[in-house]
Amino acid sequence: MIGVKKISHVSYETPDLDKQAEYYADILGLTVTGKDNDTVYLAHTIDHHAVVLRRGSTARCTGIGFQIGPDDDLDGFEKQTAGHGLRTLRKTDSAPTIGDVVAFEDPKGTVLEVFRRPEPQGQGFGKQGIVPHKLGHVAFHVTDVKAVTRFYCDVLGFRVSDWMGDFFSFLRCGPDHHTINLMETGSNRHFHTAFELRDWSHLQTACDFLSLNGYRMLWGPGRHGIGHNLFAYHRSPNGLITELFAELDQMKDESLGYFEPRPWHRDNPQRPKTWPKDPNAANYWGPMPPDEMMQ
Ligand SMILES: [Fe+2]
Repeated sequence: MIGVKKISHVSYETPDLDKQAEYYADILGLTVTGKDNDTVYLAHTIDHHAVVLRRGSTARCTGIGFQIGPDDDLDGFEKQTAGHGLRTLRKTDSAPTIGDVVAFEDPKGTVLEVFRRPEPQGQGFGKQGIVPHKLGHVAFHVTDVKAVTRFYCDVLGFRVSDWMGDFFSFLRCGPDHHTINLMETGSNRHFHTAFELRDWSHLQTACDFLSLNGYRMLWGPGRHGIGHNLFAYHRSPNGLITELFAELDQMKDESLGYFEPRPWHRDNPQRPKTWPKDPNAANYWGPMPPDEMMQ
């Protein structure tokens, strides 16, 4: 099958477009690469945009962009998707630098845009603010975790990295432990969007910078059991949650079937598995997420 290789961007609607764009530019340190009255495009690197903000009545995640490989066949991908009984829409020029797109909805109504980007745009890193390495993953609350997990695996080629019990799945489409994670909580909505930082010291600098600018941590810093990443969560101005992370597990060679060994792993080697609903799965360092995380 033709599977997606990389998350490219996340699209949101947000009531106060200017305030949210200012947060991504001045606090997170992304670069504004395009702007009109109702839309702002922001880049990390190397592509034109990783975040798309559109003016809307409520703050919500509306879509995700995924790239297939430069030599993969988009027509073949569309045929493959339609073969699952899904209605696809072919769009051209839906966003700057993105030409031919196959769009369709996942079971919870998020619009997925799959495309090929043969040439990276050479967009550089920002020079102020936190400046993450990249957009890492998007997590959702879902009403039917098994159905949505199956969809991402069957339609887009994701692999299951881990489960927590039978209610929280972590899915990869490349070496990173998870690019999409899905938690069954009784509603379909955005949970958090995560950006990768360089290392622990970058995370410390980021937490201080957030604090100096009036943002407080919702949860963390800590180290997740599942994925083993260092994490710190805060709420962006429109209320949606951002995670900053480092040291996420990576499966560099799928044929080996285990994540790159690390001293903080308890399993040697660390293979995909079902974790019990245990505090260690959430945070090896102790504190559990506050109720506020689930709002
Ligand atoms: Fe996360």
